Amino acid sequence: MNDQVILTARSLAKGFGTGTRRIEVVGALDLSVAAGSLTLIKGPSGCGKSTLLAMLAGLTRPDSGCVLVDGTDLWALPRRQRDQLRLREMGFIFQGSVLFPALAAREQVAFLLAEMGLARVEGLARADRALAAVGLADRAHLRPASLSGGEKQRVAIAMVLAKQPKFVFADEPTSALDSENAATVGRLLRGQAALRGAAVLCVTHDDRLLDFADRVLLLRAGRIDAERIIKEPMPCAF
Ligand SMILES: Nc1ncnc2c1ncn2[C@@H]1O[C@H](COP(=O)(O)OP(=O)(O)O)[C@@H](O)[C@H]1O
Ligand SMILES: [Mg+2]
Repeated sequence: MNDQVILTARSLAKGFGTGTRRIEVVGALDLSVAAGSLTLIKGPSGCGKSTLLAMLAGLTRPDSGCVLVDGTDLWALPRRQRDQLRLREMGFIFQGSVLFPALAAREQVAFLLAEMGLARVEGLARADRALAAVGLADRAHLRPASLSGGEKQRVAIAMVLAKQPKFVFADEPTSALDSENAATVGRLLRGQAALRGAAVLCVTHDDRLLDFADRVLLLRAGRIDAERIIKEPMPCAF
């Protein structure tokens, strides 16, 4: 891990509802994330983990506070520029990530790269490499309906590998996966941080991912309650 902070949250706050029904979900939260690091965010259900991740990733607007992405105030940008930044620099893995039903695995990845402006030939070559890295070379021609849950999740991860974003946001990426697939996800997230220098933030309940992290944050009632630094995370395979 290097120490260059590339993602910062300052006094980030968000609530839902109005009047007496209003609940504060994230309250005045400060956070720094370094390039080349994998941070796990844990905490009880409903404590605001997904909301926090969505604010950091430019998906949910905070009520107050700011998110600095490489020094740029994410939520001060016009929407189109924020969308562009997300497309260029950020990768996402969610539980049961959504894939296009009509597209084969290879085309899902290639489509994303085409959106980023890559030429078709290069896009397909990168898609093939990424799918091979997640062990799906021989399943690349299949559509989501023919893939298992674990395989679909690996397609979503291949999209991140192919994109090589500077920031990776994962929300419960392993909750539906068996141990082998969960470890694959752990190694791939670790690899994005350790080998590609990405800042990786992963919300998870899954203790199988602990071995791969540099740092674990415990979120409670919208605040960071505890922080644990892990000195020697597992080496990565990719
Ligand atoms: N769009 C929304 N509208 C109203 N309440 C919401 C919305 N999104 C989340 N919440 C509420 O905010 C709280 C935190 O949700 P969330 O961030 O999804 O928690 P976690 O991911 O830690 O389980 C929950 O009480 C949830 O019901
Ligand atoms: Mg959640």
